[in-house]
Formats: sequence, C-alpha cells, structure tokens
Amino acid sequence: MAVTGLMLICFLLMHMFGNLKVFIGPEAYNHYAEWLQRDILYPLLPHGWFIWIFRAVMLAALVLHIYCAAKVWAASIRGRGSSQGLKYTRVNRPERTLSSKLMRWGGITLGALLLFHLLMFTTKSITFGVFDAESTPYDMFRASFDPQLWYIFVIYLVFMVAVCFHVRHGFYSAFTTLGANVSPAARGVLNALAYFVATLIFVGFILPPAASVLGLLEAI
Ligand code: HEM
Repeated sequence: MAVTGLMLICFLLMHMFGNLKVFIGPEAYNHYAEWLQRDILYPLLPHGWFIWIFRAVMLAALVLHIYCAAKVWAASIRGRGSSQGLKYTRVNRPERTLSSKLMRWGGITLGALLLFHLLMFTTKSITFGVFDAESTPYDMFRASFDPQLWYIFVIYLVFMVAVCFHVRHGFYSAFTTLGANVSPAARGVLNALAYFVATLIFVGFILPPAASVLGLLEAI
C-alpha cells in the first residue's frame, strides 16, 4: 500500500503542476497536453507510446493499492469478531485524526469521483458545457468550468477535499510503514510534510477551475 500510494501521490503532483499551465495561456496548456499524449520520450519511443506505458503502470498501482486496502479492511473486520461471541466494542482512540478515520470511506468517495472525472475528461462520455471532438484540451477545460456550471466546481471541491484528506494520512502512514517514523522528531517532520503535500495538492488543483469559474482566465 505504501509504495503504490506514494506512486499515486507522485502522479497527483505531476498532474497538478501540469494543470497550472492554464495560467500561462491556451497555447501553453494545449502544447503541454499534446506533449503528454504524443511526445514524451520521443524519439526513444514511437509517438504516443509513453502515455500508454505510463497509464498501465498507474493502473497497476491503483489496482494493487485497492487490493491491499480491501485485504487490510477484511482483516480488520475478521479481527473484530470473537470466538467467544463477544460483541465488538468500538474504541475511540483520541490520537486518531479525522483523515485517518476517513481513509476507507474517503478512499471509496475518491474512487467514485475519479470515475466521474475520467468519464468527463478522458473518455468524454459525460460532457458539460459546449465542446466536441474538435475542441482543444483548453476549450474542454474552460467549457467544463464555465461560470454557469458552478456546481461542477462544487463537485470538484468535494473531490479535492476527499483527495487531500486521503493524501494527508496516506503520506504519513506510507513513510511510517517504510520505517521513517523512528522518533518524536521524525514524526513531527513527517506530519508537517504530510500537511504540506496535501495542502499543495489541494491549492494547486483548485486554483485553475476556481479561476475559470470566477471568470479570471479571460485576461490571459
Ligand atoms: C480540480 C482538479 C482536477 C482537474 C481540473 C483535472 C483535469 C484533468 C484534465 C483536463 C484531464 C484530461 C487531460 C487530457 O487527456 O487532455 C485529466 C485527466 C486525468 N486526471 Fe485529472 N484533474 C483534476 C484532479 C484530478 C485528481 C485529484 C485525480 C486523481 C485522484 C486525477 C486523475 C486524472 C487521471 C487518472 C486522468 C487521466 C490521465 C490519462 O488519460 O492518461 N485528476 N484531469
């Protein structure tokens, strides 16, 4: 879970920095999208190959991550049962943070929202705003986050809250699993880093759609 989780966090950071290109302008954003789809590692690999290798690796990481989560969840449910027929008593451990309590349901919410996101931007099965097969990635982004479609922005806000709660706790737990949480000082550093990465991802992802919905990108 730790290794695949950190791979997914790296993907989020890359995706977030990429999205910020909307602030440079339509050309920069479209050029970046084309480079992603066609040109990475060209001519080492033929046009368009890298993106598929990358997608396969990310999908494998996601599937493994969910598989491990399901196993941990199943083990914790088994652990609650008792051969003497005692009822499981919920223990409210005061040290548990909100994000640690929300890992499972937060993860499921995140998965559902990710599906919505992929249907919207990758397969374009559900579209909002006016765009078609000819539209550029920038047009698609602007049409989806049109000021009139403020509710799409609200869905994304919920998406990002779920992502950031999950990342905050996941980052901390992953490094704990990998053996970095060795002292109170190390715990402090890990905690601070986890908040920093989660906040960076939240702010970086929310800025482009917020600017679009608020009509602040017109000047660019
Ligand atoms: C407000 C936040 C976000 C915005 C505006 C956004 C925007 C986009 C856009 C425009 C694309 C299509 C790129 C293209 O094919 O041209 C995309 C693809 C994608 N996004 Fe996001 N995204 C956001 C958050 C996220 C988050 C939080 C995740 C993961 C939890 C995520 C995962 C993905 C994935 C997996 C793809 C498909 C990449 C591919 O087709 O290879 N996105 N996103």
